[in-house]
Amino acid sequence: MGKDKLRKFRENETFACFVQPEFDSVFGVDHPLKGHWRSDFFHNDHPIVLELGCGKGEYTVALAERDPSRNYIGIDIKGARMWRGAKTATERGMANVGFLRTRIEFINALFAEGEVDEIWITFPDPQLKTNRAKKRLTSPLFLARYAQLLHPEGRINLKTDSKHLYAYTSAVAAHYALPVEVANEDIYGTGFADETLSVKTAYESRFLEMGLPITYLRFGLAGRTEFPWFDWEGDEIARSEKDNEENRERAF
Ligand SMILES: C[S@@+](CC[C@H](N)C(=O)[O-])C[C@H]1O[C@@H](n2cnc3c(N)ncnc32)[C@H](O)[C@@H]1O
Repeated sequence: MGKDKLRKFRENETFACFVQPEFDSVFGVDHPLKGHWRSDFFHNDHPIVLELGCGKGEYTVALAERDPSRNYIGIDIKGARMWRGAKTATERGMANVGFLRTRIEFINALFAEGEVDEIWITFPDPQLKTNRAKKRLTSPLFLARYAQLLHPEGRINLKTDSKHLYAYTSAVAAHYALPVEVANEDIYGTGFADETLSVKTAYESRFLEMGLPITYLRFGLAGRTEFPWFDWEGDEIARSEKDNEENRERAF
């Protein structure tokens, strides 16, 4: 492992905003913070917003800075990337920011029913191959996880350059009759991007340099808790279209 990565890992341990649960504290058991983020971590009773697959945590930091009346938690498994967001939040003395290093698959060990008010999913890996569909962060499998922790009025925001993931998520929402508040295939081209949507993540900046349109979906779960699996027929069609896969591979 590189020296810089090790240095960041060590520094993460010194940040008060950085939570890094042991495997044993989330695998098959509830983490002590579950149901207690407001009282024991943020020491307030404000709403909680999650950024899933936050990378360097651009949304977490930018939204938290704009809205001190809400608490923001960036979640990712890559500690060296998260270091950037945690460092910035620490340097700026932001009390409404947390970074949680864990696999999103463990999220129900970390948040209780209704504890989360909003979710942002920013430029997740689109997992284009059909046999990876269960890994998509908007697959029925993940929606069932979110349903256990999202407040009934809560919303899920997906920002992605991937036409495939956008189409897939739209199909998932339609399949379960979920209320879609916004479905926009080119937020900058249509002038839809407001101050919040114009926050740019590291990946987004690179996709924009390549001239790729950025899509946005905002939807709720309408109190639904069960999401039986279904195979999306669009996977077959979209596979031949290649999506932005080649561009993505060239960029990273
Ligand atoms: C394509 S990057 C996007 C990062 C950031 N949101 C951005 O836009 O710059 C996807 C991120 O999701 C994280 N990720 C993917 N699957 C994950 C999982 N199951 N649990 C935790 N993190 C995950 C990766 O570590 C990576 O940092």
